[in-house]
Amino acid sequence: MTHFLDINKTQPEALRSIIDHAIEIKNARANAPLGQKDADAPLADRVVALIFDKPSTRTRVSFDVGVRQMGGQPIVLSGKDMQLGHGETISDTAKVMSRYVDLIMIRTFEDATLLEMAESATVPIINGLTNRTHPCQIMADIMTFEEHRGSIKGKKVVWSGAGNNVFSSFVQAAGQFGFDLTFTGPEPLDPERGFLEEALRKGSNIIIERDPHLAFKGADLVVTDTWVSMHDPKTARKRRHNQLRAYQVNTELMSNAKPEALFMHCLPAHRDHEATSEVMDSPNSVIFDEAENRLHVQKAIMRHCLGV
Ligand code: CP
Repeated sequence: MTHFLDINKTQPEALRSIIDHAIEIKNARANAPLGQKDADAPLADRVVALIFDKPSTRTRVSFDVGVRQMGGQPIVLSGKDMQLGHGETISDTAKVMSRYVDLIMIRTFEDATLLEMAESATVPIINGLTNRTHPCQIMADIMTFEEHRGSIKGKKVVWSGAGNNVFSSFVQAAGQFGFDLTFTGPEPLDPERGFLEEALRKGSNIIIERDPHLAFKGADLVVTDTWVSMHDPKTARKRRHNQLRAYQVNTELMSNAKPEALFMHCLPAHRDHEATSEVMDSPNSVIFDEAENRLHVQKAIMRHCLGV
């Protein structure tokens, strides 16, 4: 069973092959004449369940469109409308769903839900975000960087803000793709210690630098995300803004990075909070390429999982 649960659970060779395949898939479709764009239909006769316990725009639409472009049929389900939200166990749900569909993508809260689903399902499971990680997003980000700047190996990636689930997937990706990673943010919002320790044990080059001006120096890529995640309590909002104000990605901080440094944000963004509109709309910003590449890279991930 080839699941796609986290960046650190997929071999580096497979991750590389997914990125390269995603770029091929994107280019092939762009160059194909109308009427021939989806001619190969690798997911013909396949049904993919897309389960959402949390809101989504990009993940929902990109997976749905990706399945359709590959000749498969998507079913979008809300966790709260399923029996899963009314007492049926995750294990029983996974076994039942496996009798109907060929692949399951799930966006949920707890990591344990994803892992239990993967343990009991007899079809591949893809992590569409949990409170702890967001591997599909980081695959799209690496694809986007490499399209614009070539190999990410040896490059300096700087994350400014809160050490959230998206950053944890960057932590896992640093070693797998061989880039250097700097986290800059306030100590109370440090990234999950266990992921950092695991990555450092494996030899990844990851540092924490509290001073954002120093952190941004020589950056090839600057990344940020919303200051308050979907699973954070609403009451955290004011405190977070005070803690993170110094880490807002603005033109002044970006001037410390290399002139060609790219800017990324997985979106949705709160403009002029975690990043200014000036940076988000600057020529070095690739935020909409990132969003588009979710589609292409997830098609490659689904094909990897199904072996088609
Ligand atoms: N970046 C991301 O996962 O977006 P959605 O929450 O809209 O899916």
